[in-house]
Amino acid sequence: MSEENLDWVRSHLSENEFEHWEKLSMADKRHSFQVARRASSEIGEEGKEFMAAALLHDIGKLESGFTTFGRVFATLVCLFFPLGKMEKWAQKNRGLRRRLIDYAKHPELGAKLLKGIGSKEQTITWVLEHHSEREKWDTPKEIAEILSSSDND
Ligand SMILES: [Fe+2]
Ligand SMILES: [Fe+2]
Repeated sequence: MSEENLDWVRSHLSENEFEHWEKLSMADKRHSFQVARRASSEIGEEGKEFMAAALLHDIGKLESGFTTFGRVFATLVCLFFPLGKMEKWAQKNRGLRRRLIDYAKHPELGAKLLKGIGSKEQTITWVLEHHSEREKWDTPKEIAEILSSSDND
């Protein structure tokens, strides 16, 4: 990602938020950047907290790979299976488990993380509800529609 794009991202986030955003995988960074770019033409500069929401909507994916369950599970598997077989099997299952946890948990994990670093209420709200049904949105309808249609994952 170019310096220019990184500066653009930085200008829409607090220092704390940017620090966490930077830890996302390259694929997640690129996705969040694209979502925010698409949304920016319609949301504009007055909606800074919503631009932050666009950039941070999937930030919960940072946490989902490191559950206690995952670590305990991996330790147990190590005790019972021969190494070569286990590695293959664990890889397959890690992928599956990871995807499941990502989908089920990343909005909640993300909202919690952002609360902890002092993000704006409107930012946290969208992160929490970005996979919820329209009827349950607390984010203003027009903004939520823009954010949702910019996010194609
Ligand atoms: Fe998401
Ligand atoms: Fe997304």
